Amino acid sequence: MVTPLALGLSYPVFVARGVLDHLWMLVEQYAPNHRYAIIADESVDALYASPVARSLPLSISPERVLRLRVPSGEANKTREQWHRLSNALLSWGAGRDTTIIAIGGGVTGDLAGFVAATLHRGVPVVQVPTTLLAMVDSAVGGKTGVDTDAGKNLIGAFHNPSLVLSDINTLRSLPMSVRADGLAEMIKHGLIADADAFSELCGVLPRLCDSEGAEVAALAEMVARSVAIKAHVVAQDGREAGLRHILNAGHTIAHAIEHALHFSMSHGAAVAAGLVIETRLAEQLGVAEHGLGDVVADAVRRAGLPDSPPRSVSDRDLLEATRSDKKARAGAVRYALPERLGRMSPGPDHSWSAPVGDDAVLAALATSRLLGKRPAD
Ligand SMILES: NC(=O)c1ccc[n+]([C@@H]2O[C@H](COP(=O)([O-])OP(=O)(O)OC[C@H]3O[C@@H](n4cnc5c(N)ncnc54)[C@H](O)[C@@H]3O)[C@@H](O)[C@H]2O)c1
Ligand SMILES: [Zn+2]
Repeated sequence: MVTPLALGLSYPVFVARGVLDHLWMLVEQYAPNHRYAIIADESVDALYASPVARSLPLSISPERVLRLRVPSGEANKTREQWHRLSNALLSWGAGRDTTIIAIGGGVTGDLAGFVAATLHRGVPVVQVPTTLLAMVDSAVGGKTGVDTDAGKNLIGAFHNPSLVLSDINTLRSLPMSVRADGLAEMIKHGLIADADAFSELCGVLPRLCDSEGAEVAALAEMVARSVAIKAHVVAQDGREAGLRHILNAGHTIAHAIEHALHFSMSHGAAVAAGLVIETRLAEQLGVAEHGLGDVVADAVRRAGLPDSPPRSVSDRDLLEATRSDKKARAGAVRYALPERLGRMSPGPDHSWSAPVGDDAVLAALATSRLLGKRPAD
């Protein structure tokens, strides 16, 4: 028997080892349709989509299933791929009678989710995340979209999945560096909403980062806790009108780092440094309690992630890059700031973010460099 997590969302989320074996049963229960299109990251297609396609129940004949592949990597989260996939679905005759099953990391989930959001103005999508980041972050919450030359995720739609299936066993094949990206978001989730989850995660981080041990079992419990935190936030604020801003903790600086380095650094590494820098910023502004920056820095280092800005970019350049964040409005760059472990500041206008002046940001960057043991490059 597989049971979904109790999350308060309108769709079930399953997090377990081996849950992929039950995919068709759960799809027929939660997203039944006449046709099914499996859209998979080409790097994991043979590993995970092929077994799924081979395990079709007798109730679904093979001609009712289409398989499509997405080339791996952020560079393919584009309108061109959206166009290609949508055309392939339409040529096959996909109508509203089609459920899309997205298998892969956040790139595949966002892209296939956007295809589902727009095909006939919206068809059901089942998210099957196979990266840690996608399990704890992108597969839950309903944001879908593609990148453009003007920036990441600038074209998209809110489109909730009908079902999320996170099979922890798929993380076995995930390279350690990619796993670390997910750990950064898990550290963020603990920081913003659950002090106990933060402390427990810190306790198991050395094991999770030990590639020899491949402690996949230890991940299941922590992934479920982390999904619950994200779900709790998005259940209250599905469209990012207020509380959902707390999920941007660390991300104003992270996006600036990614931008300044032309996306040569992984998102998770940038988030790790961003979390430390923004926590030190909150501390210096008197918003966060004393010592919180050091606690966050220790956590990210345990995950093998950077705790300070990249050496190759100046603080002035990073400050400038914060202005390119799409969430910066009316010239004032806003930050989601922590108060203490597990609690974010509601901000001056209860928007869960606050405008911060340049001098304060420069001071936090300087402190982070001074105290940092692992720069972000
Ligand atoms: N929708 C949201 O709310 C949301 C939230 C956070 C991030 N995102 C998006 O998620 C994307 C990043 O997702 P990601 O970190 O999963 O990256 P990704 O999808 O690019 O996957 C990372 C790499 O891992 C490979 N991979 C995937 N699963 C694997 C497995 N089980 N074994 C071996 N290799 C595997 C992929 O081929 C890829 O090379 C970004 O585009 C980001 O904008 C979206
Ligand atoms: Zn992120």
